[in-house]
Amino acid sequence: MAESIYPVPQQWAEGALIDAAGYQTMYRRSVEDPEGFWGEAAQRLDWIRPFTRVKDTSFDEADFGIAWFSDGTLNISANALDRHLAERGDTVAILWEADDPAEPHRAITYRELHADVCRFANLLKAQGIGRGDRVTLYLPMVPEAAVAMLACARIGAIHSIVFAGFSPDALAGRIRDCDSRIVLTADEGLRGGKRIPLKANVDAALTHCIGVERVIMLRRTGADVPMVEGRDIDWAEAANQSADCAPAEMNAEDPLFILYTSGSTGKPKGVLHTTGGYAVWTAMTHEYVFDYRPGQIYWCAADIGWVTGHSYVVYGPLMNGATSVMFEGVPNWPDPSRFWQVVDKFKVEIFYGAPTALRALMREGDDWVAKTDRSSLRLLGSVGEPINPEAWSWYHRVVGEGRCPIVDTWWQTETGGAMITPLPGATPLKPGSATKPFFGVQPALLDTDGKEIEGAGDGCLVIKDSWPGQMRTVWGDHDRFFQTYFTTFKGVYFTGDGCRRDEDGYYWITGRIDDVINVSGHRMGTAEIESALVAHHKVAEAAVVGMPHDIKGQGIYAFVTTNAEVTPDAALRAELIKWVRQEIGPIATPDVIQFAPALPKTRSGKIMRRILRKIGENDVGNLGDTSTLADPSVVDHLLANRPHLT
Ligand code: WT7
Repeated sequence: MAESIYPVPQQWAEGALIDAAGYQTMYRRSVEDPEGFWGEAAQRLDWIRPFTRVKDTSFDEADFGIAWFSDGTLNISANALDRHLAERGDTVAILWEADDPAEPHRAITYRELHADVCRFANLLKAQGIGRGDRVTLYLPMVPEAAVAMLACARIGAIHSIVFAGFSPDALAGRIRDCDSRIVLTADEGLRGGKRIPLKANVDAALTHCIGVERVIMLRRTGADVPMVEGRDIDWAEAANQSADCAPAEMNAEDPLFILYTSGSTGKPKGVLHTTGGYAVWTAMTHEYVFDYRPGQIYWCAADIGWVTGHSYVVYGPLMNGATSVMFEGVPNWPDPSRFWQVVDKFKVEIFYGAPTALRALMREGDDWVAKTDRSSLRLLGSVGEPINPEAWSWYHRVVGEGRCPIVDTWWQTETGGAMITPLPGATPLKPGSATKPFFGVQPALLDTDGKEIEGAGDGCLVIKDSWPGQMRTVWGDHDRFFQTYFTTFKGVYFTGDGCRRDEDGYYWITGRIDDVINVSGHRMGTAEIESALVAHHKVAEAAVVGMPHDIKGQGIYAFVTTNAEVTPDAALRAELIKWVRQEIGPIATPDVIQFAPALPKTRSGKIMRRILRKIGENDVGNLGDTSTLADPSVVDHLLANRPHLT
């Protein structure tokens, strides 16, 4: 099939913040003169003490370090709130839609949000929380979650949000890793009409976290939940606090937040972002990628438990004075029109969502979309995983009625914000391609020997130089940061993604090349699922790989060897699925569990994942070189017993 190209629509070419020629000029300057470019770009923020240094970065082992604007001071909550008060204090900052369409929405102005943030910041201070303290958030998608994030930022505390779909064990691990003394949660969450027992999960987690002294609980559903005397307090106490709280003067390189993400080995990494560079990056990418102008209604449908929610529900949009829609619910409840009803209700102009949701909605048929109006939409965005051309076309044709460009933004928790992305007034689109690098981003493709591929080709995607939004370290393990991202190839940032560049210099992400899989736009380390499986007393060994999945993009395929005395049967399969959900959370639910008397190993005992991956992908015609297998019959057994074929 010939590749289709969607040129920049006329009105976008004329009316956008930046056109094709402008992009060329700005991009060139950003890589030729990063000091000058970013020194100017950072003027978009209010600095308390202006910086004189711009970029101090090196990816080389000898002088490794990443610092931006390092002698400047600022407060990101002041940039997101205070600076708007004079001009747009009465503009709605957060437009919140509840899970249940019958529940009234909330519209919170910048002035109100500022006051709420100050009160909550004062409540945190009253608990002895201040600069550098870690605060764990385990909250539903409610405005109070944004309030809590900004309140932490206001007093210099470091927030660590744990997605409310994670299990008590996963939560406990993340609380312990960063030694939080305080956890913020709600009685229950609501999603798709279901209640999620957040407070009960926190109580369960805290039986393994002796360091936590305080829990602040928001009453979301009003459920009758037990409170622990002396430890738990009610969020409503914030109302008694003063609505004045001076923003702490933070150094540009002071930590802003930790967000845990899965890697290819072992336990999740605490990705650390700092203040100044992250603020510049998220504000600037939000403005240019979405061509955002004050007054427009903008909706990023991500949960604040993921980086997309941090950067593009809260920080980026609020620094730009946007009206940011926040949605508590799910795309298909009460019915598959829900997203588009919310678009109509708020007259959303810019919608940013994940391919997995689009694929799920696409399957329900066009009528659910067609019966809504959507005439307010001008621009659509995609994030989190490759968007297949079929879903892209559906999004473009059915949701956007052919009128709205789609910005397919490639980035990672580690990058802070969008890295390879179209700009709607500048970039002709090719469905499935994240297109071109944002300002300051220098992508390169390397072959397995680390040799750079010039022109069109396929390789490992690396970034050659630092950008302001880059993560600064892995919390508590700087060595792991260096090892993970800067040793596979020397002197460059290793993304873990494979990528193709075409003749036009467009980038096509082909997926992870490490042992990380992308399930519904969420990153899962296969090692984490494996360790959950082997923690079960009936399991001897487990290996997990990705498999193609129509809706989720990738599904989870687990090969399990049971202990000798155990009969692997359907009941055990169900038990293991339940177990993994309990250990990690529903997002880690295996789609396929194949019991195997043995796993394919080399003579030195290393599992040959390459073969398992091929089986997971149902690409078994050519398993490659199997001559180093200790026992080739193991593979024959696996092939003959694939459960998804029966
Ligand atoms: C991984 C990062 C981006 C924030 C949310 C996910 C994949 C992300 C795209 C895209 C193709 C994408 C990559 C990346 N990915 N966006 N537009 N096209 N792949 O952040 O959980 O840190 O995952 O998601 O594989 O490495 P994350």
